[in-house]
Amino acid sequence: MHTFASDNNSGVHPLIMEAIIKANQGHVKGYGEDIYTARAQENFKLLFGAGVEVFFVFTGTASNVLGLKAMTQPYQSILCADTAHIQTDECGAPERFTGSKLIPIPTPDGKLTPNLIKPHLHGINFVHHSQPKVVSITQSTELGTVYTVDQIKELSDFVHQQGLFLHVDGARIANAAVSLGCSFRNLITETGVDVLSFGGTKNGMMFGEAIVFLNPVLSENFGYTRKQGMQLASKMRFISAQFNAYLENDLWRINAGQSNQMAKLLSGEVKKLGIQVTHETEANSVYAILPQAVIPALQQESFFYVWDESTSEVRWVCSWNTCEEDVYNFTGRLRSYLS
Ligand SMILES: Cc1ncc(COP(=O)(O)O)c(C=O)c1O
Repeated sequence: MHTFASDNNSGVHPLIMEAIIKANQGHVKGYGEDIYTARAQENFKLLFGAGVEVFFVFTGTASNVLGLKAMTQPYQSILCADTAHIQTDECGAPERFTGSKLIPIPTPDGKLTPNLIKPHLHGINFVHHSQPKVVSITQSTELGTVYTVDQIKELSDFVHQQGLFLHVDGARIANAAVSLGCSFRNLITETGVDVLSFGGTKNGMMFGEAIVFLNPVLSENFGYTRKQGMQLASKMRFISAQFNAYLENDLWRINAGQSNQMAKLLSGEVKKLGIQVTHETEANSVYAILPQAVIPALQQESFFYVWDESTSEVRWVCSWNTCEEDVYNFTGRLRSYLS
């Protein structure tokens, strides 16, 4: 059966496959000095604005870690939600490679606000404390919620007033933009984000993420940081060609639209079964409390993760290729286990 474990459990969109095959022609210069990469960089400038600098890497963890490294010194700290991927699922890589301390902040819905951040901005200029330098948010969040454009703008203004930078983990940025019905320019450039980790893999690409510097000062010397961080792809054309297919065909919008819509359907269907959905379903994931007894059998048929063992909360993620039939098959099996 189709699984709802993660959007990286799905395969690669055929247009992306085709782009990889088409890029497999002859010799081109390595390390990003090729026509595919030049075109991909232009595509990002069209979407975000002419002033952005873009660097491609292989993984979402690398884009977060290296983006954060460009924004911090080892004596500084990075504030994030306690559910942030950089805090929970990157094996300490952000702390190891930046040397900076992560400060996790509890939130009700995965979203930071100025009021939640304020109590953590202390010890400024006090040599014994790590100095807050970056606020990192995730859009869409690890709980399937989405910051509005106004909420990001408010955070960005606040963060900058405090002399900090704003980083966005956009592993699922396309899902957020589609959910809000806005452009990347509205959501990221015009709100004043400094650095964005732009995801591709979870939304139909084979591999490849982009670090988008909206604040160009931060990208100075970043080429060296990426190389030291072991993310300078020699055959970069195969990442860039994927991004060209992804951005030029509106694939980011089509794929995210499908996964968001299927998450809404799944959320609605499980609610009909009397299941409690714990967070608003605003992007492509659904969180719900299941009776503990039904979880193992359902997982056997269609694997998914338990998010919180103590409350029996599970997470289901829809992908670009999840369809209505997959949702109805799954909820049908759930119904049979519940009865
Ligand atoms: C919000 C978020 N950020 C970053 C990542 C990291 O991606 P990768 O597994 O490619 O390192 C993930 C992957 O699950 C994620 O969900």
